[in-house]
Amino acid sequence: MTVTALIVAAGSGERLGGGIPKQYRPLGGKPVLRRAVEAFAGHPLVDAVRVVIGVGHDELAAAALEGVDVGEPIRGGARRADSVRAGLAECAGEQVLVHDAARPFCPPQVIDRLLRALGGHDGAAPVLPVDDTLARAQQVIGEPIDRAGAVRVQTPQAFGLDGLRRAYERWQGEPPTDETSVARAAGLSVAAVEGDPLLGKLTTAADWDRAEAMLAARLVSRTGMGFDVHGFAGDGPMMLGGIAVRHSRGLAGHSDADVVLHAITDALLGAAGLGDIGDHFPPSDAQWRGAPSDRFLAHAAELIRARGGIIDHVDCTVIAEEPRVGPHRAAMRARIAAILGLDPGAVSIKATTTEGLGFTGRREGIAAQAVASIRMEPAR
Ligand code: CTP
Ligand code: MG
Repeated sequence: MTVTALIVAAGSGERLGGGIPKQYRPLGGKPVLRRAVEAFAGHPLVDAVRVVIGVGHDELAAAALEGVDVGEPIRGGARRADSVRAGLAECAGEQVLVHDAARPFCPPQVIDRLLRALGGHDGAAPVLPVDDTLARAQQVIGEPIDRAGAVRVQTPQAFGLDGLRRAYERWQGEPPTDETSVARAAGLSVAAVEGDPLLGKLTTAADWDRAEAMLAARLVSRTGMGFDVHGFAGDGPMMLGGIAVRHSRGLAGHSDADVVLHAITDALLGAAGLGDIGDHFPPSDAQWRGAPSDRFLAHAAELIRARGGIIDHVDCTVIAEEPRVGPHRAAMRARIAAILGLDPGAVSIKATTTEGLGFTGRREGIAAQAVASIRMEPAR
């Protein structure tokens, strides 16, 4: 049997809101649609994955699905049922799993259960019991609804492809919100298999926050350190902590020589286990000559976020006899926080002299030491 997963992602995510449609928004660093697709692309019983997208969303979809094989995206319609119909017309194979892109966490066991149930039924859908009292209500509670035997029906829903296509052709009336209603109306038998709370649909902002919190709970704390030195050379001002500090002398370096940003960049890369600043921006590469170091720092933060990581805090000590850091501390914190997308409260800048000892004491240059605390998936 050839199995195609059909992921419908042509909605506009109105109830969730927030800029781009929810299926393209990163959840724990990864777009919702990509999570939904990967659950099927990585399943041994699924042969192909196809995606139905909305008009004008080609670029969003391509970015979300970079490197994942879903063939040509299929153009969706105004209602979910229109998108499913359009998708079914393009699917190949004997069996189809129709799934909402807005359900990013599909456990492989659910797919196993659904495909097994197709052995004895025309279709199968995951269901969960209803635990709360059910009633009709507008401003006030109206008639109770008997919940005995009632279930919540989730996706993915599995069907023989031909059977589901024919059922959709025969469907009349309001657009259905899932495939089980269409299949049942056409006389197909649809097995109810055990669903999973992880399959919950992201509909509202509260759903989104819960999903983010669930992903964050899996992360572990990691710490990285960074150290950097630049010698004084030429005239000031110098870049220090992302701001131009007026001073009689400047700092020598290949880039803008911002010793503070370099130390923090290395601390972040260290916490993430991603090498050091020289690996990402080799001094031998002419394109980084005189480069503003905020690019290095922003890049390190992007790498962490792309892996679903969270930056909790960075702390840096500037080791220098001159210039005095105190008057610039608040501006540095604000600037570094802006580069990292953090609150200034999550950035600390401290300074010390070395009592006239060593190269910093001899006023030959400035050193900086940094520590970064992040949360990331446990290292494998
Ligand atoms: N969907 C679709 N085509 C539509 C409408 C919805 O493919 N015309 C998809 C959505 O992208 C989603 C799934 O159907 O993956 C379930 O729909 P829903 O949760 O309602 O998503 P949206 O319609 O995007 O959200 P909203 O109703 O809040 O606008
Ligand atoms: Mg909708």
